[in-house]
Amino acid sequence: MNISFLLLKDFRNYRHLELRLEPGVTLFFGRNAAGKTNLLEACYYLSSLTSVRAERDHDLCRWGAQEFSVGCRVDHVGASKTIKIQVAVEPSLRRKITVEDVPVRKSDLIRVLPAVYFSPDDLYMIKRSSASRRKFLDSLLGRLDPEYARRLSRYQDALTRRNNVLKKIRSDPSWRKTLESLDGILVESGSVVIARRLSAMDDLRKEVSGTYAFIAGRPCDVTYSSSIGVEALGDRVEVAAISRQFHERLLASREEETARGITLSGPHRDDIVLTLDGKEVRYFGSQGEQRSAALALKIAESKMLEAVFGRKPLLLLDDVLSELDKERRTKVLSLCDLGHQILITSTDPKEDLSSRVSEFRVQGGTVEPYGGGVQP
Ligand SMILES: Nc1ncnc2c1ncn2[C@@H]1O[C@H](COP(=O)(O)OP(=O)(O)OP(=O)(O)O)[C@@H](O)[C@H]1O
Ligand SMILES: [Mg+2]
Repeated sequence: MNISFLLLKDFRNYRHLELRLEPGVTLFFGRNAAGKTNLLEACYYLSSLTSVRAERDHDLCRWGAQEFSVGCRVDHVGASKTIKIQVAVEPSLRRKITVEDVPVRKSDLIRVLPAVYFSPDDLYMIKRSSASRRKFLDSLLGRLDPEYARRLSRYQDALTRRNNVLKKIRSDPSWRKTLESLDGILVESGSVVIARRLSAMDDLRKEVSGTYAFIAGRPCDVTYSSSIGVEALGDRVEVAAISRQFHERLLASREEETARGITLSGPHRDDIVLTLDGKEVRYFGSQGEQRSAALALKIAESKMLEAVFGRKPLLLLDDVLSELDKERRTKVLSLCDLGHQILITSTDPKEDLSSRVSEFRVQGGTVEPYGGGVQP
């Protein structure tokens, strides 16, 4: 699968851009603030209707404009489909999403254009707090299954309200009733979230282990670390058993939670743990091992999307290659031999990439072919 044409209108610093793209590796190079990340952001938006950095669609609209549009043609096994997204941000947000001019839902986009975005930040995912690994898992599972995203959002909403109530109970015990009803929503939505995460662990483990071995020559293991102690349930991952366990945990920690004003257990406190020979990579791994593990997670993401959507995801590597040593860089780029289209950004032309790279120079919201680049 590959994007053969990209169109941006009033998207970030692009007034109007039309770009023809080739399969394989394409490099966009240019100075800081030229518009390289904006290009990859547009591609990811076409896949997910989500920005890789902005909270709101308003931020994606070129300053001063009231609407923007992005579009692309996606070629896959001899057929091609056109995705168009038009977004008006003023006076209120309105989106029109079509594939082949037929209106579709957000979750239909990824079926046409699965994509994985990878920034240098992701390379630090292993070192960082558990929040960055949960974000990785939630983003992946939410794209694989829209119901997961809905449950998670319900859970997060109940969690925020519950934490507020826990703070109020200290001075006003009449809030206890509200707490009990919020516990119900928290347990119901949270248990589904945990069950879905646990059931994804087998695939994740298989893909991460295989990919880590491909990058670093040895296997790496991944496990789910649960704050409600689902490990005690053995192999049973039914939602009902998780619900009971979660509810018991909330009751047991109520006093402490009320005293501290926060919810101490649930999916928002869980983590995925990567180990090498039984030792946690986060604490004992070298920098190189931590980077390889992060790479393995991102490549596993691509493989899991491929398994569900039946096409090789577009890989968007934003400034990542300069952060990798030559060996890891070669391994990542070898993915294009498996049929992935890879779009790379860098401040420098070519570096030591392979000779089959199409190159474009990005400058102040314009993109020009460079060397043997393809004419836009
Ligand atoms: N909504 C917007 N309208 C107009 N310009 C914007 C908008 N949002 C961001 N920009 C500008 O787009 C420019 C390019 O940003 P981008 O992040 O794509 O740069 P980059 O080429 O990736 O730079 P770097 O190498 O530093 O990562 C920035 O100067 C930014 O101020
Ligand atoms: Mg950038």
